[in-house]
Amino acid sequence: MKFSIKNGSAAKELHDCVILGVYESQELSAAAQQVDSVSEGFLTKILKRGDFDGKLETTLILHDVANVASARVMLVGLGKATAFTEKHYCKAVRASLKALVKSGAKNAVTFLAELTVKKLATERRVALLVEATLDAHYKFDAIKRKKEKADTKNNLLGIDISVASANEITEANAGLAHGEAVASGVSLAKDLGNLPPNVCNPTYLAEQALALGQHYGFKVEVLEREALEQLGMGSFLGVSQGSETPPKFIIMQHLKGKVGEKPVVLVGKGITFDTGGISLKPGAEMDEMKYDMCGAASVLGTFKTIAELDLKLNVIGLIPTCENMPDGRATRPGDVLTSMSGLTIEVLNTDAEGRLILCDALTYAERFEPSAVVDIATLTGACVIALGHHATGLFSNQDALAHELLRAGEVALDRAWHMPMWEEYHPLLESNFADLANIGGRAAGSITAACFLSRFAEKYHWAHLDIAGTAWKSGKEKGGTGRPVPLLTAFLVNRANQ
Ligand code: BES
Ligand code: MN
Ligand code: ZN
Repeated sequence: MKFSIKNGSAAKELHDCVILGVYESQELSAAAQQVDSVSEGFLTKILKRGDFDGKLETTLILHDVANVASARVMLVGLGKATAFTEKHYCKAVRASLKALVKSGAKNAVTFLAELTVKKLATERRVALLVEATLDAHYKFDAIKRKKEKADTKNNLLGIDISVASANEITEANAGLAHGEAVASGVSLAKDLGNLPPNVCNPTYLAEQALALGQHYGFKVEVLEREALEQLGMGSFLGVSQGSETPPKFIIMQHLKGKVGEKPVVLVGKGITFDTGGISLKPGAEMDEMKYDMCGAASVLGTFKTIAELDLKLNVIGLIPTCENMPDGRATRPGDVLTSMSGLTIEVLNTDAEGRLILCDALTYAERFEPSAVVDIATLTGACVIALGHHATGLFSNQDALAHELLRAGEVALDRAWHMPMWEEYHPLLESNFADLANIGGRAAGSITAACFLSRFAEKYHWAHLDIAGTAWKSGKEKGGTGRPVPLLTAFLVNRANQ
């Protein structure tokens, strides 16, 4: 989809559709007022008739409005003017896109970016509009033989975004570029998540990383099993040994910061399918465990975004990726693995595999002398129980880093929630037979998982994002969300600006 910025007149713009905001209690936005006045009060008349009440996310399409050049005028409900936050703004944008796609229009001009949204500058409003539009427009049909029927009506090629004055155009174009960069990372993360696990396996992820590096000119290295053995990644290898598909360890380096500047390291869990291993999962919804590589997908997506932004920061991406399968050679409950750090781990449940691959990646991260390490993982069902599907679980060994990430999530509308990791929780991981056990029992499952990881992250500032509840949606809308690419991008952009 093609966007462009302009300073247009709602009545004179010639498009298939012009999109205007209307608040609850019949209050017209500035652009809607203009259309109302050239059409001799047509909009006011319709509102008075009671056919449109301006409730958030409602839409109404009018045809051939007098003295308006465009064939269609779409009214978009904005809800109460006093409550019009950035969240409501994005909801209105999404609603307008859905109605636009249904209408069959090929192009449109939207005046929603001209609205006043609490504290948001034009650049940010345009960026959010672009992100929300592309997020709502996303479709995964790469491997569907018959394109869905609705698709034949989806003719939409482009949207012009109007800003209130010509001197906002430069700023708006910066917002457009930012929004498109984030959306392309989000879209990549969604695609990788949505691909079936027989396609998106560790080899495929490694190929995608290499292709990204080729395209954008950053360094990518893939370590094979022999190299992992050399490094002593016994914990990671223990998870992968039940699978016919070989493990890969992907290293990506975006080095656009100052020479010698310590990098931020992102570590993504890349289990391309999690059966649970010998501690086999129950059958219901097991297909969703193809999404167990969404941490890895978010690292790849974020690398695409920061490459497009040419972000002036040093960022390293690490992705341990393998399958977790039951097999004659698979790790058994009771087995003890020796991690790269030297710590031995008693595997009491082979389904707690994410932490076993991440711990070796966290040890590997030490060699980069990082300014911060952030891991991203669909780590625990317990996190879904604690926070549901709205907030990502955030754990950290440094409060300043935690607050940076929380703030980034707020700004990006991709929120996280700070969870405790007090020392009282640590004894739950004690083992009679090794330095630590890989599970801590049913209570506080997402916290003990984070405590486990923290044992391998003692040498630097570290945060852990448990995205088990936020990386994908179940049910009728099943699909990857691309989270937390927006959060991670906001965090890195903020660091680059410091
Ligand atoms: N990938 C799962 C976590 C998960 C489960 C995410 C369901 C989203 C939905 C992870 O590897 C896992 O199986 N964790 C176990 C840990 C337990 C054995 C301590 C879990 O959460 O049940
Ligand atoms: Mn598991
Ligand atoms: Zn898992």
